[in-house]
Amino acid sequence: MTSGGDTPGMNSVIRAAFIQCQNLNHELIGFKHGWKGLINNITQEIPIDIIDQKDQGGTLLGSARFNPLNITDHMSKIKNTLENNNIDCIIAIGGDDTLGVANALHQNNIPIIGVPKTIDNDLESTDYTFGFNTAVTTATNAIDQLKSTAKSHERIIVVQIMGRYSGWITLHSGIAGNAHVILIPEYPLKLNEIYHLIQRRYNDKNKWAIIVVSEAYEIPDDEKSNHNITQEKDEYGHIQLEKLEIAKKIATKIKQDLGFDTRSVTLGHTQRGGSPSSFDRVLSTQFGLFAIKLAHESKFGTMTSLKGSKIISVKLKDAISKLKKVDLESWAQAKEIMMI
Ligand code: F6P
Repeated sequence: MTSGGDTPGMNSVIRAAFIQCQNLNHELIGFKHGWKGLINNITQEIPIDIIDQKDQGGTLLGSARFNPLNITDHMSKIKNTLENNNIDCIIAIGGDDTLGVANALHQNNIPIIGVPKTIDNDLESTDYTFGFNTAVTTATNAIDQLKSTAKSHERIIVVQIMGRYSGWITLHSGIAGNAHVILIPEYPLKLNEIYHLIQRRYNDKNKWAIIVVSEAYEIPDDEKSNHNITQEKDEYGHIQLEKLEIAKKIATKIKQDLGFDTRSVTLGHTQRGGSPSSFDRVLSTQFGLFAIKLAHESKFGTMTSLKGSKIISVKLKDAISKLKKVDLESWAQAKEIMMI
């Protein structure tokens, strides 16, 4: 079952799980559209040709931001689905929301194993989630592309990057793409610090710049903070951060206060699309193979994880205990790159 935002590498997990099931004499059945499939008993056969399929983005099982815990009788509904299909274990491929549900089901004796996916890389207990590397590559390529226009027109381009409340994608793509200002929610630079970095470039006769900003970055001491805006929430209580348009807001402020020509670009879902990078193909394959081994050994309530170069299992409850934010050491490196 694949659930939450689609992420490059989901199909590679399914393929590896399919292969490992053949190795260990198990059968693999897909459930459609995340937890919806388990509540409503919507199954999908995994086609044998998945073995030879090119690694494509998205998920052949479909996904949804559907929270089964909001459904009355969700436990009995899921138990019935498992019984009807002779299921011994659910493999839940998802991020913190999906794995939070997985942990709640595990507490109610539903056999379940988690596989960590998310472009945001914000899950504790794994060094990397699959999908992150692809999203960073996409964002880095976009930064590289935008430099042509920024240089030719002597503009400042502010690039808005996904990642929810963790600045990992912004930090890594900002460093990889050699952005001049990196703005993340964990360590938000103030407006005067941003202006100082830009002025310094202009004084050095570089009359263009790229600023990368996380979608959840807030300008410190900005009394008109966008985050107070009332917005509809999804089933897990999240607002659509993209709609806060922080890149546009920063571009407008720079134009107003410094008079430079500015533009803003929101990369949005381009970061979730396309085929997975080689790193993500390998990681998702390793996770898929290992998840079935864990199921085979009845190690329920666990999640596959990457620690250093090893694939290990960790407890689901530990994995969801808190979000993984950018640490001070990583931020210090970004500051060194920005020369502050
Ligand atoms: O969690 C992955 C993610 O892409 C976030 O980076 C982003 O804020 C969110 O999902 C967008 O969600 P949706 O596709 O539901 O708009």
